Order: sequence, then C-alpha cells, then structure tokens
Amino acid sequence: MDKQKTYYITTPIYYPSSKLHIGHTYTTVAGDVMARYKRLRGYDVMYLTGTDEHGQKIQRKAEQMGKTPIEFVDEIVAGIKELWSKLDISYDDYIRTTEDRHKKVVQKIFQRFLDQGDIYLGEYEGFYCVDCEAFFTDRQLKDGNCPDCGRPVNKIREKSYFFRMNKYADRLVQYYEEHPEFIEPVSRKNEMIQNFIKPGLEDLCISRSTFSWGIPLPNDLEQVMYVWLDALSNYITAIGYEADEESLRHKFANYWPADVHLIGKDIVRFHSIYWPIFLMALDLPLPKKVFAHGFFLVNGDKMSKSKGNVIDPVSLIDRYGLDAYRYFLLREVPFGQDGVFTPEAFVERVNADLANDLGNLLHRTLTMVEKYFDGVIPTYVEGATPYDAELQALVHQVVTRFENAMENLQFSVALSAVWEVVRAGNKYIENNAPWNLAKDPANHAVLGSVLYSLLEVVRIVSVCIQPFLVKTPLLIWEQIGIQTEEEKKWDSIYQFGALCSGVPIYKQNPIFPRLDGKVEVEAIVQMMKDTAAQHKGIDQAESGAGTKQEVVEVQVQDDFISIDEFMKVELKVGEILEAEPVKGANRLLKLQLDLGTQKRQVVSGIAEFYQPQEIVGTKVIVVTNLKPVKLRGEQSEGMILAAKEGEKLVLSTVSADIPNGTRVK
Ligand code: MSP
Repeated sequence: MDKQKTYYITTPIYYPSSKLHIGHTYTTVAGDVMARYKRLRGYDVMYLTGTDEHGQKIQRKAEQMGKTPIEFVDEIVAGIKELWSKLDISYDDYIRTTEDRHKKVVQKIFQRFLDQGDIYLGEYEGFYCVDCEAFFTDRQLKDGNCPDCGRPVNKIREKSYFFRMNKYADRLVQYYEEHPEFIEPVSRKNEMIQNFIKPGLEDLCISRSTFSWGIPLPNDLEQVMYVWLDALSNYITAIGYEADEESLRHKFANYWPADVHLIGKDIVRFHSIYWPIFLMALDLPLPKKVFAHGFFLVNGDKMSKSKGNVIDPVSLIDRYGLDAYRYFLLREVPFGQDGVFTPEAFVERVNADLANDLGNLLHRTLTMVEKYFDGVIPTYVEGATPYDAELQALVHQVVTRFENAMENLQFSVALSAVWEVVRAGNKYIENNAPWNLAKDPANHAVLGSVLYSLLEVVRIVSVCIQPFLVKTPLLIWEQIGIQTEEEKKWDSIYQFGALCSGVPIYKQNPIFPRLDGKVEVEAIVQMMKDTAAQHKGIDQAESGAGTKQEVVEVQVQDDFISIDEFMKVELKVGEILEAEPVKGANRLLKLQLDLGTQKRQVVSGIAEFYQPQEIVGTKVIVVTNLKPVKLRGEQSEGMILAAKEGEKLVLSTVSADIPNGTRVK
C-alpha cells in the first residue's frame, strides 16, 4: 500500500499573553482551515501550535505580578488553550518551549553550532526591544525607538555569543532564486532582500546574560539562549528532531520538511532569514513555504490595547457563533493582505452571505420540500429544466477553483467561489419558480427534480465549507436528511447527484438569523469599549499599579477624528459686546460678539447660568464656521464653547490680553 501523503503545517508559537485579540487568532484559524482541508483530502496532517515562553519580556511581567515565570506562563497557557478550544482549533500537538523535550534538543542544536564554528564569543553593544525580543543597531532605530513596534528600546552591552549569519547569506539568496515559492506573498521576499540581505547580513547575537529566564547555554551557564533561536527550533523539536526515542525520530523523518509555516507579516525576517540559515547549518532541508498574512487593522490602525480598539474573539463568538467569526476572518480579507475590521463590515458580511445567501437557500428549499413533497427528498430527472446544465457546469467548475485556491492558501478566493454556487442556487429558484410549477400536477416530476437539485447544491456547498465553518455543515446535514458517510465525502462533490432520494428532511429554524444592523453595530462598539476597560485593569495589575479596577473612559477607534478633520473647525477668540435674553426662551441669550475683523450675533443656551450684564466684556472661544441657524426667530452665526457638568456650566474663556479674532488651535 502507498504511504499516506503527509502535510505538516505550523503557526507561530504565541507569546503568553492574556489578551489575544482577533488578529492573533487569524494565523491559528487559517492554519486550522488548512489542516482540516488537507485531512479531508486524505493527508496525514500534523498541525502544530504552541507557546513561546522564555525571554526578558516574560520574566519582567512575572516579576511585576509577584510570580515565578513558570507560574505566570502556566496560567496564561491554560487560557490560550481554552481560547483555541473555543475556536475549535484542531491542532495535533501543542509545544511549550519550557518543556524538556524542547529544551534538551535546543541545547544540542546550540552545541552543534559551536562545534562547527558557526558561533563565537563576543560582546554585544546595541539596542534591544524587549517587546519584540529583537536587537537593533543605531541605524535601524526609528526616531530612537523600535522600528517594528515603535516602543522605546534599551541600550545594552553584554558578553554574548554570535552566529555567523553572513557565512550562509549567498546560499540563502541562491535558495530564494531556485525556490520562488519559498516566501509568499512575493513582496515579502523582496522586502527581505532589499532591507536585510543586500545591505549585508550582520552576525546575530544568540545569547543573553543579563536575565535568566531562558534555556541555559550548554557550555556557559551564565548565559541563556536568545529567545528567537529557542522559539524557531520548536518547529523541529516538536516532531522529534534529535529525540532520544526511536519512534520520535521516525516522526521527524515522516513530517520534515514542513509544508508551510504560516505567520504574520511582522515576523517574516525571523522565518525567512534566521530560520533557514539555522536549518542550513543543521544540514536539514528547508520548509517548503513560509506564508505571511497581513494584519487586521481597525480604521487603518494596528489593533492594539493601548489604542482601545481591540476586538475580543470570545465576545464576538458568544454573540454571533463560531462559524460567523471564522467565516468573517477568512472571507473578508484576501489572505496575505492587510484587512480592516469594522463592526459594520462584520454585520454586513454575516447578513449578506450567511443569513441571506446560504441561510435562505437552505430554508426556502426545505420549506418547499415540506410543502410539495411531504418533507421527503424527491427524485432527480436528467435535464428536467433548461437551467440544470448551467447550474451543474458552475458547480463542477467551482469545485476545481475551490481546490486550486486552497492549495495556494487563497481562502477568500475559495469562499467567494463557493458563494457563487450559493447565489446560483437562489437564482435557480427564481428561474424555475417552483410555486408556478406546483400549480399543475403534470409538472410534479420537474418540480421534484428542481428541489432535488437545490438540495444537492446545498449538500455540495456544505461539504466544501467544512474546513471553514465547523458547525454549520453538521446542521445542514441534519436538516437535509443526510444519513450516509458517502454523502459527506470530498469525492462525492465531483459527481452531481450523490444525494440520496426518498429520505425525510428535518427542517428547523434558519441556521443564521438576520441581524439588526444598527443594534449589532452598537453592540460590537460596546464590546470594544468593554474589552479596552478590561485590558486597562489587567495592565494595572501586571504593572503593580494597584489592584482596584477603576472605571476607564474608553475612546473607541470609531470615535477618533484626524487632525485634518479637527482643523476644519474654525475656533476664534470673541469678545462679548452685548448680551440680552431671547423673548419667550428661558434658556437663550442673544450675544453680540467682536471677532476682531468682524462682528457676529450668536444665540447661546447659557441664560440659566449667567446674567446678561455679568458676561459683557468676557472673551470666549467661538466656533465661527458653523452653518448659521435661526433659534426662536433669531439668527445665530456660530457657537460659544462652555464646559457643562450636571447642573454647572462655565464658559470657556481666554485672558483679556489675547486680541479678538485670534485663531484657537
Ligand atoms: N512568539 C512569536 C512567534 C514565534 S514563532 C517561532 C510571536 N508571537 S505573537 O504572540 O506576538 O504573535 C502570534 C501571531 O499573531 C503572529 O503570527 C502575529 O503576526 C499575529 N498577529 C498579532 N497581531 C496581529 C494582527 N493585528 N493581525 C493579524 N495577525 C497578527 O510573534
């Protein structure tokens, strides 16, 4: 018997953080989709994820929390595993870099580099970003800060071991040339060549001596391994590289080289330069592909807790279901590019694709099967309607397009192809108008065939979407009366007509109820505010700034305006020359203002707080480019600013020596 084909896919191992947002889940959900797809296609899949638990950042956080590093990471890892289970991530192994199986082998790797002369002892002098766990030279800093995350860096000078990167630079470039599919999207490869390889690869500092939370060097217990050498090695230690047990070594031989390392665009350098060079030094074949996806942005900005624009996966899943969440992540944005999360886009996507297109197709079809065929799947009749050939040709073609897109990790392309079939199903209903066919008993067989074709379309769609929507296919199968394993198999979608007739269906409520756009957009905005408030609480606890969780003002990204938008508001200093009540309006005062080059009348709702004569001569801030309005019959050309809190109101004033008409910015 032929050996089963293997497929080894990895996602990054995550830094233990209790605040994983939807951006973080993107890599893991994508990896899961691919792993599920390959399993459906008969591969022996190894899907690896895990946590990257060493380094200065973790040691610091643990200290701030008054915990040992391992206590700190143990708790967080439990939370991350819970999140992956909520997302139904079907990983085959979860590696923690604090496990013995990993540490032992990383030490062997280091020793081999030493023995081969790839490593030498020197002194590192430069900058280090603890958040990115990355070294930078003076030249590489951006305005004195980390070029990757923008945070302040530490200047360090310490005795360290270095890896001779440059020794392998030519081989790496040659490898890139001979394997154009190695780094995708190709723009990432070009960035690596331009920014890092062409200027000359610098030797990499691969040990640290000023903190202790790491794997000790085998030859120098004063030092710990640089966290990226430790972390990247997980891709081979997890599958048994240099393991003592024979069975594990066999596993390594079975799965290595990896078919794909899925990563985010921020860590391409580590995966496409350092990692291949380490592997060359170990004389191991390189992974077949490193695929870097883009970032999820909120209103053009990186999702980050400091900006209060983080979307919490758990809240979204609890409200909209796991499948809506997974579908949105992979359908909304072409894999490889940056994408934008907006509450509106989420709600629209769920409503349009899931509730309207797919949900309706299923529900309408089942309703008609109940109504015209007593809820039993009717029989297909070849060529029953003039629309059959077109529908079947499309299904056939889409299956091929879906498979090609999946092979290229083009998830959104794969999904949009399937949705062409879903929409074609809805159009097939309109074209055949079953309600008209039902009027004449002579059309009974044709009507039956139309409904059969619709159920068959739904079945084929349900088989295709299994890697993405993990619960929906089961619900569909239950409702369309699927009873055999054959009808769920991948191969069954190549032949239109695998659905069994004569079987009862089981119609239930629509699988994706339509969302009320306005209500749900507000609900998601509220979720973002709640998450930002929670994060602030966690940050305070982690930084030891007291345990009391204060109520925080949250600025959701949606509410921000750009400086250009703000500058559209013209604010000027105006002096109140006259003030008098507006007849018949208790709250209004009519003010005559001097704006330097011009006079203006403004009506303002301050009568309950100020007597007219007490404000004459006061200099206030005036919005001068507001559209004029009439209030109680009086023309108002602008607005004066005031601070109002409860029952108190105070005019925003400026001192008397500022000339009237001065612009306020
Ligand atoms: N520990 C390293 C990886 C070591 S792999 C040998 C690390 N961890 S991480 O927790 O910071 O990131 C995990 C993954 O989340 C990365 O692929 C990263 O690109 C991804 N993302 C983090 N924020 C993201 C978005 N806003 N959008 C999409 N993906 C993002 O890096």
